[in-house]
Amino acid sequence: MKMKTIMVAGAGQMGAGIAQTAAEAGFAVKLYDWEPETVTKGLHRIKTNLEKEQAKGRKSRQETDAVFSRISPAELTEAEDADFIIEAIAENKKAKAELFDTLDKICPPHAVLASNTSSLPITELAAATKRPEKVIGMHFMNPVPVMELVEVIRGLATSEETAETVKKLAVRMNKTPVEVNDFPGFISNRILMPMINEAVYCLYEGAASKEAIDEVMKLGMRHPMGPLTLADFIGLDTCLSIMEVLYAGLGDPKYRPCPLLRKYVSAGWLGKKSGRGFYEYGR
Ligand code: CAA
Repeated sequence: MKMKTIMVAGAGQMGAGIAQTAAEAGFAVKLYDWEPETVTKGLHRIKTNLEKEQAKGRKSRQETDAVFSRISPAELTEAEDADFIIEAIAENKKAKAELFDTLDKICPPHAVLASNTSSLPITELAAATKRPEKVIGMHFMNPVPVMELVEVIRGLATSEETAETVKKLAVRMNKTPVEVNDFPGFISNRILMPMINEAVYCLYEGAASKEAIDEVMKLGMRHPMGPLTLADFIGLDTCLSIMEVLYAGLGDPKYRPCPLLRKYVSAGWLGKKSGRGFYEYGR
């Protein structure tokens, strides 16, 4: 299949990063979000990132202009001429399944529907469509322009051809695809999130201050960010919903979300994006 146009559905921090990376790989990108102002913010984020690349001398003005011009804000109906869709909306199974159902009706028959879900079952998203063989997980890491990994997850009915198309696309986007199976949280979040949740328990139980917890993991384990800083960076709502998926899907109490994480999310303390999480951020 000759792939020219990619639609990214969801223009938040992941969607914008995916759109930028796809445009850098030479694709025409349609950026959709059900909230138009999220697209505006996403485009602004991409422009800022590209300007930094230019300031560092890695791209010329012409190159950054060309990348940016390949991304256009779009309505969902414009999926009718997309060859490949990457869904990157919030981690809500019902909302994702509804979007997949709608996209299935709009997209051309050859189009692949990929989800950037960080933990939800691909087989269930595929079942919301009449093309389960063309549905697949394509899980990018945050910040997308920087992180090398893409987890590739086949649902029960995903075809070999779809898996190969996704792996080739990931390589074209300068990423390394790693195929894993359709288990809750896949591999990345099944390992990362319990570590973050444990760090929140350490804070909740008074085992150490937030700064000390982060310093131990940064200096002692060479993690680029401490787990509480990383949780703020990912979004505490996202961390909580992934823990819920692990807890429900694997049925083991070791995945119980920490009550402090729940409390912060219900207070609207969602991390960097809301200005406050475990730390405070100037907005
Ligand atoms: N967008 C684009 N580029 C970014 C960026 C962003 N949001 N943030 C940082 N960068 C770039 C910088 O421009 C810089 O580029 P160069 O080195 O090429 O000049 C590079 O990243 C390093 O940035 P900084 O020097 O500013 O800061 P740093 O050295 O502290 O690195 C970091 C920042 C890359 C984010 C690093 O702290 C890191 O790797 N943190 C861990 C990130 C991580 O674990 N991500 C996975 C999260 S889990 C996930 O995504 C899965 C999920 O489903 C929840």
